[in-house]
Amino acid sequence: MPKLIIPDYALFGNPVNHSKSPQIHKLFSKQIDILYNYESINIPMNNFSDIIFSFFKSNGKGANITAPFKEKAYLLADRLTNSAKISKSVNTFKKINNKYILGDNTDGIGLLSDLLRLHFIEKHFSILILGAGGAVRGILFSLLSFGCSVSILNRTLLHAEKLVFEFNQFGKIDILTKNSTTNKKFDLIINATSRNINYETDFFCVSLVSSKTFFYDMNYQIGYTPFINWCIKIGAKYFSDGIGMLVFQAAHSCFLWHNILPSVNPVIKTLKKKDNF
Ligand SMILES: NC(=O)c1ccc[n+]([C@@H]2O[C@H](COP(=O)([O-])OP(=O)(O)OC[C@H]3O[C@@H](n4cnc5c(N)ncnc54)[C@H](OP(=O)(O)O)[C@@H]3O)[C@@H](O)[C@H]2O)c1
Repeated sequence: MPKLIIPDYALFGNPVNHSKSPQIHKLFSKQIDILYNYESINIPMNNFSDIIFSFFKSNGKGANITAPFKEKAYLLADRLTNSAKISKSVNTFKKINNKYILGDNTDGIGLLSDLLRLHFIEKHFSILILGAGGAVRGILFSLLSFGCSVSILNRTLLHAEKLVFEFNQFGKIDILTKNSTTNKKFDLIINATSRNINYETDFFCVSLVSSKTFFYDMNYQIGYTPFINWCIKIGAKYFSDGIGMLVFQAAHSCFLWHNILPSVNPVIKTLKKKDNF
């Protein structure tokens, strides 16, 4: 029987089959000249903690956690970084001194870094976020502490209310509903909903955007995402998908594990080549 090779670094989630993370970390490993073995592992919904404990008991040194386990990961970590504590969500684990598991969240710094790379954000910006799921929990602190104000528009009002209640201590944050009457034009609109939503009927109002509004979709795929197609249809000039965020959040995980921040631009360039999707 072939010997089972357990990687020292891995992504855990459900599903993870199409994840770009192994490809990203392979490129990082080459770039920083540290050999680390990173694989994606699809795990069942019901025994997350057993799987994580046995990974770290065997070969595991570090892990990424994706949907739907980021909040479970927060509960499982022995210690937490500030960003994980505030977001109550963990996307990166590191085993420290062979003794305890540190939980971090690199989604916020990942998004902010990509918005800065694209010149899509300034300190005074008012931002509209579509969605109030786990990913939004991970990005709010970074956007608010950068100095931006945030409005949240979400299908389930209660989920948006919960986030506003938790994060209003860090900056200006409120809720927008379909029935809100506002003359406000947002500087930046971030789509943090799941993919394949009908934006025209489900979500929002053309009156909230101006010719200068930036649009950022946290989702990504070959070609334009449905959200970006919609933005183009309403005349958007500045738009991007979330591949850069994905690479930046991975770079910050790599930094936590190996103390080196890899450069992201060559990796984004490689991933954007059609054949790599
Ligand atoms: N680029 C990156 O690095 C990166 C990082 C993290 C996440 N993401 C992407 O961001 C997206 C959100 O992730 P997540 O972890 O926040 O997911 P999640 O926790 O499942 O949240 C999904 C969000 O989408 C909304 N939604 C789902 N179906 C909808 C529908 N039919 N109509 C309207 N709203 C709907 C949900 O609203 P309700 O509250 O009403 O359910 C919720 O706000 C995912 O597609 C994920 O792949 C990208």
